[in-house]
Amino acid sequence: MAQVEILKKKSTTSKENLQTDRQTGQFPRTRMRRGRRTEGIRNLVRENILETRNLILPVFVEEGLDERVAIKSMPGVFRETETSVVDIAKTAQKEKLGALMLFGVSHHKDNTGSDSMRSGGLLGRMVSRVRDACPDLVVMADLCFCEYTDHGHCGPLTKSGTVDNDATLENISRQAVIAAEAGADIVAPSGMMDGQVGAIRDALDGSGFDETAILAYAAKYASNFYGPFRDAAGCSLQKGDRKTYQMDSANGDEALREVALDIAEGADMVMVKPGLPYMDIIWRVKQEFRMPTFAYNVSGEYAMLRFAAEAGALDYEKTMMEMLLGFKRAGADGILSYAALDAARILQR
Ligand code: PBG
Repeated sequence: MAQVEILKKKSTTSKENLQTDRQTGQFPRTRMRRGRRTEGIRNLVRENILETRNLILPVFVEEGLDERVAIKSMPGVFRETETSVVDIAKTAQKEKLGALMLFGVSHHKDNTGSDSMRSGGLLGRMVSRVRDACPDLVVMADLCFCEYTDHGHCGPLTKSGTVDNDATLENISRQAVIAAEAGADIVAPSGMMDGQVGAIRDALDGSGFDETAILAYAAKYASNFYGPFRDAAGCSLQKGDRKTYQMDSANGDEALREVALDIAEGADMVMVKPGLPYMDIIWRVKQEFRMPTFAYNVSGEYAMLRFAAEAGALDYEKTMMEMLLGFKRAGADGILSYAALDAARILQR
């Protein structure tokens, strides 16, 4: 009661207060709960909405498998075979997902990742299988070398053991052309090499693929949240870490520079990765550049939720939908998520 009186008194005639009053009103005339009273009213004033077209499903395709294999650290996610990936793609198309992002799990690793640069290799094969089976599905191909090199780094190594930036540009450009030839709508370089977007744009244009789009993993952090992915894609590092090419999680301004460079080099869309611990970066990137902006809700984020749900601590479906909507509120136009199909099914019902 006393507090009501105080608030009433505060709402005086000073110019400043009137301004605030007009913008936000004041208790007790203003009661925010009126906007939340019924489901109908809540629907009416809702600001953000998640749609299936906002969801991009990452899919692992392993060569040489007879049957799809469950990934222990990511309950509900499988390494698909080169046949079962077609079923997943058809389901994704039926559920009207925004796109599929394909990752290869190679059995032909060497020190450069050469399998991904030849036309009969896994990268080209998986893209064309999905392309042929689902002409209307948007197909994205992740471009990187960690899934194809025996040392697990995202490009060939120099003598001192760091990734050779400029040699990687040549190689990743070959990957881009292979993926485009196979029918990828969008190529997504994730290696965090300087100049990779420009090199890929030149290579695509030089090979007649000026219509193939580039989604740049523009602000990709050296993150512990990739743990389950490295297990899933079989790309754990033999030695070292990725801190000389992926970003330091302490930095925000640097992400804006990374994004600006990628846009200048010809990126059509940009991505922030991981998602949950980098919501501020998603927001800043969207506000600053107004580009199609995607968030990668990575393997560790998915695993946290799954295992918490298995332990009975969280409701998987409800928490997952809240998390995905959070990305939209932060400014993401789309979200790459291992829960994309689950979310789509929930949205359809
Ligand atoms: C490859 C790549 C990684 C992820 C996507 N592409 C792993 C890494 O950079 O170590 C991680 C995705 C995830 O954790 O879900 N460069």
